[in-house]
Amino acid sequence: MDYLKTQGVDTLNGTIKISGAKNASLPLIAMTILAKNRVTIKNLPHVADIKTLLKLLSNLGASCEISLENVTVDTSKIHETKATYDIVKTMRASILVLGPILSRFGHCEVSLPGGCAIGQRPIDLHLKALEQMGAQIVIESGYVQATAPNGLKGCNIIFDKITVTGTANIVMAAALAEGITTITNAAREPEVVQLCEVLNASGVTIEGIGTAMLTIHGTNGKLLEIDEFSIIPDRIEAGTYLCAGAITKSKLTLTDVEPKHLGAVLSKLEEMGCKCSVTEKSITISPADELQPVKIITQEYPGFPTDMQAQFLALATQANGTSIIEERLFENRFMHVSELQRMGAKITLNGHTATVNGKTKLSGTDVMATDLRASSALVLAALVASGETNIHRIYHLDRGYDSLEKKLEGVGAKIQRLKE
Ligand code: UD1
Repeated sequence: MDYLKTQGVDTLNGTIKISGAKNASLPLIAMTILAKNRVTIKNLPHVADIKTLLKLLSNLGASCEISLENVTVDTSKIHETKATYDIVKTMRASILVLGPILSRFGHCEVSLPGGCAIGQRPIDLHLKALEQMGAQIVIESGYVQATAPNGLKGCNIIFDKITVTGTANIVMAAALAEGITTITNAAREPEVVQLCEVLNASGVTIEGIGTAMLTIHGTNGKLLEIDEFSIIPDRIEAGTYLCAGAITKSKLTLTDVEPKHLGAVLSKLEEMGCKCSVTEKSITISPADELQPVKIITQEYPGFPTDMQAQFLALATQANGTSIIEERLFENRFMHVSELQRMGAKITLNGHTATVNGKTKLSGTDVMATDLRASSALVLAALVASGETNIHRIYHLDRGYDSLEKKLEGVGAKIQRLKE
């Protein structure tokens, strides 16, 4: 197993290129199941979750040719419709194949993902919506077994809660369904928007893209001709490196980024005293003289992303005063708190709210990554901790950050990947 050995630094300086978004790549790779042609996807990040999904597709019979940041997927020879436990247990987003497989083949089995470190994360809303579309669903031996012998039918779906992968799943199911599907209370995340835009350009008319009300005109089983496209920049990776600039009081420039997707994050960094100057595809952060405390409530897009909560919590340990961070999306997403406390952070947890008293001097020690974004919070803390921090279990980090240690090393961080 790999771990990261990190030493505190005075400052960082330079430019970081942002990779394609993991959370956009996953549904868009699953979407290739709806295609009749070989589909080329460009600007994929090198992260474990993408490899896992490509392996899942290969197990089903698809061929996936990878070259650098691009992949060409041919799903014409899919002969299997079962996503097995060994893959789904490593990546919950495997559930994204349920909608497209069911709508193309009329049957699909996907292992139930189970709980995870940040909370229960049920998939009841995905299943309820598919049932409304005419699917018959049973849960047996830990698997969702879905059939739609007469195909899926368009209908009006109202999500009780906004769900990102749920919206993506149902949009893909609706793409080949008979008739029109409407989704009320749809997710508006940029990653869902890109999925809708690509489908819309491939023969599935979708109205309301980027709003909470989507109308999808199904093709009634006709497979799609999907042109090559490029994945949007990863807004969470970008936000994490902006926090690296803010916490180390460094000027950093990010390139190949989409500033429009980072509104809530940039606004909180400015509230904390940093300056963020933006061009069409770059952001430069100039540090605050003294970081100010902040109040954050995580919300669905365009609100403050839950995937940036852990990183801002690390940042708040270096702010001068009391910050309050409330997690509204996942019930257990504060696992990084106890590790940060071991580094000297003064954080109290009360239900879904963390109160961070800064500024505290952090000191390096051995810490354990507990989930993807929690891992990057520990890296941020390690950048300003005195002495050496060893971050273990970084397989969590590798699920979603492309070459994190190389990118940070490139701007002056002292960070090394080693074997346990
Ligand atoms: C996606 C992102 C993840 C991000 C999250 C919230 C991907 C691959 N992952 O996860 O990085 O943290 O959005 O922005 O894009 N819920 C239900 N029933 C369901 C589905 C969801 O109760 O059937 C609840 C969840 O438990 C959670 C909330 O809805 O409390 C939002 O979850 P959801 O948007 O579905 O998260 P994911 O799509 O799993």
